[in-house]
Amino acid sequence: RIAYVNGQYIAHQDAAVHVEDRGYQFADGVYEVCEIWQNTIVDMPRHIDRLDRSLNELRIGWPMARSALLFIMREVVRRNRVRNGIVYIQVTRGVSRRDHFFPPDDVVPSIVITARSSNPKAADAAAEKGISVITFPENRWPRVDIKSVALLPNVLAKQTAKEQGAKEAWYFDADNNVTEGGSTNAWIVTKDGTLVTRPAENGILRGITRSVVLELVAREGIAFEERAFSVQEAKDAREAFVTAASTLVMPVIKIDDTILGNGHPGSIAMRLREQFHTATD
Ligand code: PDD
Repeated sequence: RIAYVNGQYIAHQDAAVHVEDRGYQFADGVYEVCEIWQNTIVDMPRHIDRLDRSLNELRIGWPMARSALLFIMREVVRRNRVRNGIVYIQVTRGVSRRDHFFPPDDVVPSIVITARSSNPKAADAAAEKGISVITFPENRWPRVDIKSVALLPNVLAKQTAKEQGAKEAWYFDADNNVTEGGSTNAWIVTKDGTLVTRPAENGILRGITRSVVLELVAREGIAFEERAFSVQEAKDAREAFVTAASTLVMPVIKIDDTILGNGHPGSIAMRLREQFHTATD
């Protein structure tokens, strides 16, 4: 395997950044995960736009021209011969003597790009079964709209889920409304067949997969509401699912101890999963 690190393509096993990288010391950096489907990077412009936004919010400079980044991402995918999988991009504020203040202006951002294969058949088999989620009190900082590498709360929530036999943790806020998953956006279908997901304006990451699914939903004429929903409403739902570049549309069949519907993936979730790539860029 090959990774790209700060200007060089290097054997994955030797790929490294300096110990005084601010990503390592302060989680002072941002990232993107894009799906690779049939040798192409899915929704690349949208991911790069979000990366741009995350960088601007944290006042980290672009490590290179946008066109160069697109080229290198494709090159990492090509050199690793990934047909289906993910590409990971991380940009941090760079290497500098440890100090909370921003480093001097001549410090350049660090960039790492890796790619890895996944097995689409295994993912589809998982989707046929559906996943369980647990609910978990929101304990993240308010700027979850920034795709920051500071993921410790997400790591702890997801590990708790795993230890309880679930695949994802759904955060709920002070009003008992679901925000999102540890690494996914959250959706339900109510008993009357309305698809519901939380508005992207507060408390969640504006998922790229989420935006594609919203376009698909509009195209298919599925009844839809963008609003907050409570943990109880989710447990009473007909079906539920999560979305992310890494999982695409993944049906949820159980929330805490509550089995949804007949305990099988919902028809809207499966339909959106099947049609997903007809709506991507
Ligand atoms: N996670 N919410 C959170 C907290 C996320 O970390 C992610 C993505 C999403 C979905 O966003 P998108 O559809 O753009 O992937 C929502 C990535 C995949 C990860 O951390 O691995």
